[in-house]
Amino acid sequence: MTTADPLAERFRAMWAELAGVGRDPATGGYLRYAWSTAELTCREWFTAEAVRRGLAVRADGNGNLWADWVPSGVDPAAPAVVTGSHFDSVPHGGGYDGPLGIVSALLAVDELRERGFVPARPVTVAVFVEEEGARFGLACLGSRLLTGGVSAAHALALTDSDGVTVAEAMRAGGADPAAAGPDPDRLARIGVFVELHVEQGRALVDLGAPVGVASMIWPHGRWRLEFTGAGDHAGTTRMVDRRNPMLTCAHTVLATEAQARRLGAHATIGRISVRPNATNAIPAQVHAWLDARAADDTALATLVEAIGADAAARARADGTSVAVVRESDSPPVAFDPDLTDRIATAVGARPTGAVPVLPTAAVPVLPTAAGHDAGVLAGHVPTAMIFVRNPTGVSHAPNEHATDDDCAAGVRALAAALADLAGE
Ligand code: GLV
Ligand code: MN
Ligand code: MN
Repeated sequence: MTTADPLAERFRAMWAELAGVGRDPATGGYLRYAWSTAELTCREWFTAEAVRRGLAVRADGNGNLWADWVPSGVDPAAPAVVTGSHFDSVPHGGGYDGPLGIVSALLAVDELRERGFVPARPVTVAVFVEEEGARFGLACLGSRLLTGGVSAAHALALTDSDGVTVAEAMRAGGADPAAAGPDPDRLARIGVFVELHVEQGRALVDLGAPVGVASMIWPHGRWRLEFTGAGDHAGTTRMVDRRNPMLTCAHTVLATEAQARRLGAHATIGRISVRPNATNAIPAQVHAWLDARAADDTALATLVEAIGADAAARARADGTSVAVVRESDSPPVAFDPDLTDRIATAVGARPTGAVPVLPTAAVPVLPTAAGHDAGVLAGHVPTAMIFVRNPTGVSHAPNEHATDDDCAAGVRALAAALADLAGE
């Protein structure tokens, strides 16, 4: 007979508090856009949980939240061991992408305290804003602003699909956009960053391991493809007279699939916008968003050029035009190999009184093609990631999942990593 794991029970109870926030009962997916009511509710929940644990919570000028555990005698200005993730989701996304890293961080702090562990430097739980870029188009907005990867002027002027700017959304969420921008003081106080995240694939399922660590992130980016033709009547315009940008877009969707397969890369058109978007009108303009990812920069450039060339050739045949506009760029990330080894060792070791997560040799080290705030921070501070097994392998969709037992294994892995990094 198996006994229920008390940590899995604690995880389940905490998870249940967030489960209904921003969830569409019709799809089971989440709509937790940056600065939306749902995301603000999650942030309030986080603040209350952190305060309940005696952590000092502050928002930075970019809207990221920081909850510090600073035991007496520890210099609060010393570089901290930071862990955390994001609450925002893609439209109708899964519940684990982001929030798992935040809930696990709070529970890892509890684990360490229960074990009587006292950190020798601050341990901080961070919540980053607009990681998905689902509302304003630029992924990892909070961490890019913090690190100077995007200017405040550019970020604050980005708009959502209703024309609301980041500055307006921040104001509505109670933040002062005038304070947005690079934050070298905060950055200097991050000694090391470890993000725990649900795995967005099936590698850990296939390897039979509840947790793994990340080795690298594929370079990736987003491009807006602007197809322009001639709007006209759907009933009266002869087929030979049409200049239909929807046709060029449709061809480009197929070319995207073919080129990605040919080059061993990943490319997706998952969003389009049509003007005027009428059943009985030939569209005047179609915008399509290309998400492209590849193993290295050269492969990514080759992929995007090939898709652009196919689109341009088809536009000539259709009497339309296409412009390719880059919206965001995420260069390749190689996580600090020493830190990754150290975390794999800590996760595999058996600290006194703690349940081992895995033997060290069985902690898989995995690459990923998903973007993360950890990828942005890796350009500035030693950074690592811990992945938790996802039995469906699905992400950015409602059936993204992790079992409570695996989430407990993730908390133990994170606690082991934090203890190792924050110890004497
Ligand atoms: C973020 O999850 C991304 O990879 O798009
Ligand atoms: Mn995501
Ligand atoms: Mn994420």
